Amino acid sequence: MPAKPMPETPPEGSAPTADEKGPPAEGAMTARAAALTGTGGSAPAEAVAPLIRGIAVLRELTEANGTLSLSGLERATGLARSTVDRITTTLARMGYVRFDGRDVHLSPRLMELGNAYLSALRLPALLSPHADALADELDESVSLAVADQDGIRFIHQATRRRAMSLSFRIGDLLPAERTAPGPLFAAEWTTADWQRWRDRRAADPRDLSFTAVPPRTHRPDARDDDTFVSRTEEASANGWSLDDQLIEPGLVAISVPVRSPGPDGRIASVASVVSHTSRHTAHTLRTALLPRLRSTVEAMERELRDTPPPEPGPPPSDLALWTGASKQQLGREFIESLARGLTVLTAFGEGRPELTLTEVARATGLARATARRALITYEHLGLVAPAGRTFALTPRVLSLGFPPLSRTTLPEIAQPHLADLTSRIHESTSLAVLSDSGEEIQYTARATTARVMSVNITVGTSLPAHATAPGRVLLADTREEGTLASVRSQGYALVDEELEEGLRSIAVPIRDRSGRVVAALNTALHASRRTPRECVTDLLPELTATAMRIQTDFHTAARFTHVAAS
Ligand code: PHB
Repeated sequence: MPAKPMPETPPEGSAPTADEKGPPAEGAMTARAAALTGTGGSAPAEAVAPLIRGIAVLRELTEANGTLSLSGLERATGLARSTVDRITTTLARMGYVRFDGRDVHLSPRLMELGNAYLSALRLPALLSPHADALADELDESVSLAVADQDGIRFIHQATRRRAMSLSFRIGDLLPAERTAPGPLFAAEWTTADWQRWRDRRAADPRDLSFTAVPPRTHRPDARDDDTFVSRTEEASANGWSLDDQLIEPGLVAISVPVRSPGPDGRIASVASVVSHTSRHTAHTLRTALLPRLRSTVEAMERELRDTPPPEPGPPPSDLALWTGASKQQLGREFIESLARGLTVLTAFGEGRPELTLTEVARATGLARATARRALITYEHLGLVAPAGRTFALTPRVLSLGFPPLSRTTLPEIAQPHLADLTSRIHESTSLAVLSDSGEEIQYTARATTARVMSVNITVGTSLPAHATAPGRVLLADTREEGTLASVRSQGYALVDEELEEGLRSIAVPIRDRSGRVVAALNTALHASRRTPRECVTDLLPELTATAMRIQTDFHTAARFTHVAAS
């Protein structure tokens, strides 16, 4: 949640508006939105309608690669404009989307929902280092996938993809029958699962609902179905499975299941090596790479067996208070039932994979009845699965923004924060990184003022690191020089007319999750605008606060994905 301004009590029992009552009326959404949310008019009576609608908005934004105009959202969801406005205002308040004129963009903070699933699942934390090492060793892409109903969903990608074929993102969903992992998962399908698969194939013969893959070029017939059944039998007998250009020409993959410890030994995840026919045929994948994939999978299974369960991480705090405060501030424009419902997903996490209703209510601060209705809604949407008395998140939670956001870079994360900062301090601001040699800095993002005499720097500009404030902040992290020691201890660098007469510049560090300085946030101004002292008293607090916001988003985004610094 955004920094929590703590209110008195949330306005309990504030009268629900039309949006907050009962399940959505028939025809309230387009068929597509209904398909996306799994609400073919069959929402249970206790489902929270605004939550269903809010999820539909997030999923449409995800399918549109992270951005839609408000009118585009209206068309995509079939919701009234006023409803779209209120939903997006609520999501913006939560930090899950941001407005840019009439466009709505997904924000990195939304990744906290997918992070809740991935940290509860634990597999990325335990298995990714093995996948990454295999990708380095083979110089090929390696991925980890889990089953999602009759599809497969990626939970990790160690990508070495050359420009030749498409590469999938964390959270992308693929039809099982067009992948190498699919037959391995299908070996565990029940009759009902096979029926669901047949129904989906009949309803969507060209895979149009799987936006991550190119549509099929021909209508599949009964023979294609038989092919998947026999691939499943072979996979089950062999313990490996192949994709020989089922997704697109040139793309080949081989997969091996990673089994859970314990007596049932069900498939926890499937590891795949992905290549291109210019380097490997399906045959050489099997002869040259399968043995190494197998030994990696053995190491992964040992890891699962030998790692003790984690201590439960802290639950989110005071969320119910926060939503109450937001309702008081924003009034009708803030849909509290949507915000409260979304907080339920963040109750799950590391060491908290399965929670009872009571635990969810306690973790979120929500009333039991509120938490219960949210869980009923999520179960209906396929985002939560009940297991006895407990509930767990499903891989479908990754469909809430993860694929487009998993490709975000630090400059993209920083850009809206730079724009905010510039509008507050009326000075140009920028983000810079150190070049590989460590001798220069490069500007990677920038927000400028309209002022005519603004400092002449653009994205891509290089300057000598030693002579600039961002350079000193970056160098101070790793070098033991006298002049840099003060930068390190005071937490900022001020460069006063050293690089250029009349130019004053102040910079603060941006750190990655391990504490390493990876970028610097900086403002440069004409010396006539502010004294060095004023730079410190007026600008430094604003810079520091902005750096913290950038860092928070960066750390959320980088928890399970690689976020490039430039
Ligand atoms: C991938 O990781 O990109 C991948 C994995 C299995 C496939 C195709 C692609 O069958």
